[in-house]
Amino acid sequence: MKVTPWEVSGQIDYDKLIKEFGVEKIDDKLLSRIKKHTGDLHVFLRRKLFFAHRDMNWLLDEYERGNKFYLYTGRGPSEGMHLGHLIPFMFTKWLQDKFDVPLYIQLTDDEKFLVKDKLTLKDTHRMAYENALDVVAVGFKPGKTFIFSDLDYSKTLYNNALLVAKKLNLSTAKAVFGITNEDNVGKIFFASMQSVPAFLPSIEAGRNIPCLIPHGIDQDPYFRVTRDILPKLGFYKPASIQSQFLPPLTGVEGKMSASQHESAIYLTDDEKIVANKIRKYAFSGGQPTIQEHREKGGNPDIDVSFIWLKMIFEESDEKLKKIHDDYKSGKMLTSELKEILIEKINKFLIEHRKNREKVKLDKFLLKD
Ligand code: TRP
Repeated sequence: MKVTPWEVSGQIDYDKLIKEFGVEKIDDKLLSRIKKHTGDLHVFLRRKLFFAHRDMNWLLDEYERGNKFYLYTGRGPSEGMHLGHLIPFMFTKWLQDKFDVPLYIQLTDDEKFLVKDKLTLKDTHRMAYENALDVVAVGFKPGKTFIFSDLDYSKTLYNNALLVAKKLNLSTAKAVFGITNEDNVGKIFFASMQSVPAFLPSIEAGRNIPCLIPHGIDQDPYFRVTRDILPKLGFYKPASIQSQFLPPLTGVEGKMSASQHESAIYLTDDEKIVANKIRKYAFSGGQPTIQEHREKGGNPDIDVSFIWLKMIFEESDEKLKKIHDDYKSGKMLTSELKEILIEKINKFLIEHRKNREKVKLDKFLLKD
């Protein structure tokens, strides 16, 4: 297994990651503490898609004392977004609604330029604004949500990134990110850029404000560095909450990848494409023949259609259990399971694209 901010591959063992990265598992005690404030629990929390955290108890201590936090998340722009990319944003929207807090969203068009050989600055800058439409379409509140491209907010960011860069030495960058002598120096400096939104609102307010960062677990190395350095600059360490990856359509290894077309459902995939992809590629835990399936039943635990329903699309515990039991007993066929998922995804995407059309990005953008 390999999990770095730039590469995720292999069979991912999340318990092992918890140990290696030093994050804490989200337990029932923390869930009920969150629920005290939110009233209910998002399906991503109930089903453990968001599974780990750093300092959530500290964040809630502060919150209960009246010291409200803000949210910070981000996106490395790509040509077209897929379903997996929306997960942190869907969850972040829920947090914003429940806690009624501001949110900063960083679009790292600089980072993408540095790590992708073939992309120009013009490409990544354009992709940042295209992706921003999909991000805002998730339903963020204008006036409370601030989005910026690193390239277009570079003056503010650079002036503050310098504070971090001065404290980040080469051996730490090498150890934390697996950077080698062959990597370009831009990547090393960039780590400072991703730290800035974790304290910029504190600088602007002239007092320390707690920060919560929802993110995919692969981004944790950045925030390990951030948490190490911010106290040295007189700021709080940011709290964070980590998600697992949505498994690719084609199997349970790695994550959905934008560059492997059959492994992902894109937000632009129309109803026919979605149906075809799922029927053709969704890795199945069913038996090779209908007869065998009726006799032996399917295995929901390795079936990607079932896993996607569980992780995202079937919020009702009761309905999910029925699907699980029927599939396992052989009463439900793979084709029937897939149709349930196809319908859910298409409904979701049609709504998403409608919302995207209506987005007024200007209300959200920060620029120098
Ligand atoms: N580096 C992230 C990516 O490639 C983008 C990002 C910037 C981010 N700031 C963040 C992601 C904060 C999560 C939280 O996707």
